[in-house]
Amino acid sequence: MYINFWYPIVRSEDLGYDRPEKARVLGCDLVAFRDREGVAHVLSDTCTHRGASLGGAWSAGDAPRIVNGCLVCPYHGWEFGGDGECKNIPSIGYGNKVPARAKVDSYPVQEKYGIVFAFLGDEPEESRPPLLELEEYGQEGWVANEVLILEVPYYYERSIENGLDPAHNEFVHPTHGHSAINRDTYKVRDYETEDHRQGWGFWFMHLFDSPPLPQKGSATSPDAETPWGDSKTVRSDVYAGGGTYGPNIMPTYINLAEGKMFRQYFFEQPVDTGTTRIFFLNMRNFLLDPKHNGPIHARNKVIAQQDIDILSTMNPKRTPLSATKEVLTPSDTAIVAYRSWLEKFDDMGWRIDWKDFQARNGEEAAFAIPSPGRRTSGNWVLEEIPCIKSREDRKKIEKAA
Ligand code: FES
Ligand SMILES: [Fe+2]
Repeated sequence: MYINFWYPIVRSEDLGYDRPEKARVLGCDLVAFRDREGVAHVLSDTCTHRGASLGGAWSAGDAPRIVNGCLVCPYHGWEFGGDGECKNIPSIGYGNKVPARAKVDSYPVQEKYGIVFAFLGDEPEESRPPLLELEEYGQEGWVANEVLILEVPYYYERSIENGLDPAHNEFVHPTHGHSAINRDTYKVRDYETEDHRQGWGFWFMHLFDSPPLPQKGSATSPDAETPWGDSKTVRSDVYAGGGTYGPNIMPTYINLAEGKMFRQYFFEQPVDTGTTRIFFLNMRNFLLDPKHNGPIHARNKVIAQQDIDILSTMNPKRTPLSATKEVLTPSDTAIVAYRSWLEKFDDMGWRIDWKDFQARNGEEAAFAIPSPGRRTSGNWVLEEIPCIKSREDRKKIEKAA
């Protein structure tokens, strides 16, 4: 898990105006709320007074949770603004000057694609990875299903690697492939990966043999622009592919037939090493009538469950650090490409030292993901989540474990 990327926190539709929503991301508790203008904010959830959860349970009946655009701690009523600063401490009298240390981390927020995203890290804006730009979102001729949330009992890297894997469809998704009937001819074609046009990841496209669908025409040439910019002409059944952007975003393109495309995005929220919440946005440029949303949702849920059933069995739960602990084949090319991007993020010093974090978190210490505010002011109450400096250090730490 890495700091310094954009993570989905909560669906826009789930963040009301009168109450906060909590989320645990990268092992840390966060709280989202809207100010008077409706602007969403995301803060570290641990109150710096004496440690209550800012978004936690509230026993005072209907007492307001958000006052004058500030989030109110349910324990002693300290009021925190969207900038993370405490504005009022009731016990010293409303309006009196509060100590400078009475602040919590506040993270940059963007509300896009029906999701509230937060940048979880302290990297300055100039060098920060941007949030992925979805070129087709909101464009004429495209519709999006409402964001579906899949809560799954496994590590997010396992989920991403599954989405990149062109060899599992035949076996996990009987609706996609020939299954056992093409045993004599089955083979995954070789494919290559390329850098993603927006940086921070990679892309590939692959030709799948697929049984005919009822609405499908004859042999097709995908007319989609691929993310690297050119347009490939292939006679095929289904031309599909995907890639990654940062550690936790996975786009998938599925070109079913001439002019019939799905573009799917997994925005993954790693809760901890055993739980992930996937914010799944599915777009299409055909079947535009909203009456198709329900059936498409239902089908996607069935497909997702097939993946969940397999991925819940993976051992170990995290991907091995050494290639000697698995036997990879050419069909795993995209998985190798993803891991080589993770190595780059390791070398940026952005990987959380999970072992150290786990050993102390919630027992002797409360941690926060560092926010950009830590670069410009000191005196923070919560300890920063520990990170590993480099790939080499990671090897040493995991070897020693
Ligand atoms: S713990 Fe939050 S106000 Fe006291
Ligand atoms: Fe799958």
